[in-house]
Amino acid sequence: MPVKFRSGENVPLEMHKARMVQRLNLLPVEERLKASQEAGNNTFLLKNSDVFLDMLTDSGVNAMSQAQYAAMMNADDSYAGSETFYRLEEALKEVFGTKYFLPCHQGRACENIICQTFIKPGQTAIMNYHFTTTKAHIMRNVGTVVEIIKKEGLEVKSELPFKGDLDIERLKNEIKTIGAEKIAFIRVEAGTNLVGGQPVSMANMREVAKIAKDAGILSIYDASLLADNLYFIKTRDKDFANTSLNQITLELGSLFDMAYFSARKLGCVRGGGIITNREDLYNAMISLVPLYEGFLTYGGMSVREMEALAVGLRETLDFHVIEQTPIFVEALAKELLSSGISVVTPPGGLGCHVNAMAFCDHIPQSEYRAGALAIAAYIAGGFRGMERGTISEVRNADGSEHFAEMELLRLALPKRVFTLSQIKYVADRLTWLYENRQLIGGLRFTFEPEVLRFFFGRLEPVSDWPQKLAKKFREDFGDSL
Ligand code: F0G
Repeated sequence: MPVKFRSGENVPLEMHKARMVQRLNLLPVEERLKASQEAGNNTFLLKNSDVFLDMLTDSGVNAMSQAQYAAMMNADDSYAGSETFYRLEEALKEVFGTKYFLPCHQGRACENIICQTFIKPGQTAIMNYHFTTTKAHIMRNVGTVVEIIKKEGLEVKSELPFKGDLDIERLKNEIKTIGAEKIAFIRVEAGTNLVGGQPVSMANMREVAKIAKDAGILSIYDASLLADNLYFIKTRDKDFANTSLNQITLELGSLFDMAYFSARKLGCVRGGGIITNREDLYNAMISLVPLYEGFLTYGGMSVREMEALAVGLRETLDFHVIEQTPIFVEALAKELLSSGISVVTPPGGLGCHVNAMAFCDHIPQSEYRAGALAIAAYIAGGFRGMERGTISEVRNADGSEHFAEMELLRLALPKRVFTLSQIKYVADRLTWLYENRQLIGGLRFTFEPEVLRFFFGRLEPVSDWPQKLAKKFREDFGDSL
């Protein structure tokens, strides 16, 4: 149940307290400018010691509970047949009702095993929207991605509560046009990542799973962002207001042929896994686990992390635990909207997504609006977000640029890490940047890797705009950090 304030103000109240903290470092703007140059104007290449608030991702950087740390001490270290594995398998059974579990070292490792096993060259994978590593693994196995998210999912501003839903008519048409035998699987990512952490409704997932089953097509659920999606099912769909979170996760476990997750997100640890009730699917994948990950009872994870994951999965069924990210995302979105800054709405999970297409509408899309905004925001405030726009896309076969449908700066909110004053600081610096947005200029690649270029790519500004931006900051803020 949410906590209401007498004033009527919507405050994202923390239902936890900090008992271990990490000191942060906020460099003066001149040093932030230098660090941005050394990092090739790519926030992935910044040193974390040069970053004040690390909003790059919520992956592997969430706060863990005391119960999770305590469980780590109980781990059973063994290469094969560790008790820890059976405890984790039991937790997954309790949460999802699934019988088989293949541990992997993280989410993309699950994608590697799934894509190697189930994609034959020339086949298609249909999904609401791709995630970067998912698409890369599908392409590596000579498959094609077809995205059928509802049109509202790609609109920055919408009233639709579940913008991650798949377009059912398009799904039926694609199956007819492509042919069921040429479709490797239908994948539902809930919540979605690249289009603003938007949730998928249970009604939509039920329908998609049924269509897949009737057509004899494998259905796969990416549960990496499940915690946020659960919160939205519970709060935005009145049919689930009185349903327990565990009833919802059990239904999800029964709907799809298999699910996989990044435990760097779900469960707030580091690791991942594939779960299913189908023995044939389990047997088809089993030999790839020791080949790529580790023996079947650890799959590349440390047993300590596995113990903490078992606890973290059960904690995902606690409303006060899972509400923290979405209510903080909403608080940041509201602050930015009140300054006239366009963000993805309704606010989703994972983080607040700033619409760089509008923020930097004076920069050509070929000069990477979201990438430019990400580095400008670091210079202005020392916080780092992640470019989720054209730089995160793959070039077309002829080498031309594939422009992203949305140019977003993702400000991730790792679970239970930041405080309200830090959120207000980010909104303050972004408001200043918005008022000075004409100072932001474009970027161009100086080093562009072929695969997943956003990770290691290096860029340079098209002019001396970063220097001018830092100079204006110093003029406006005096001796402030
Ligand atoms: N699926 C989704 C929906 C994800 O968000 C991620 C990771 C993965 C799969 C891959 O999992 O990182 O454990 O290998 N998302 C991170 C992010 C990297 O920053 O959003 P992984």
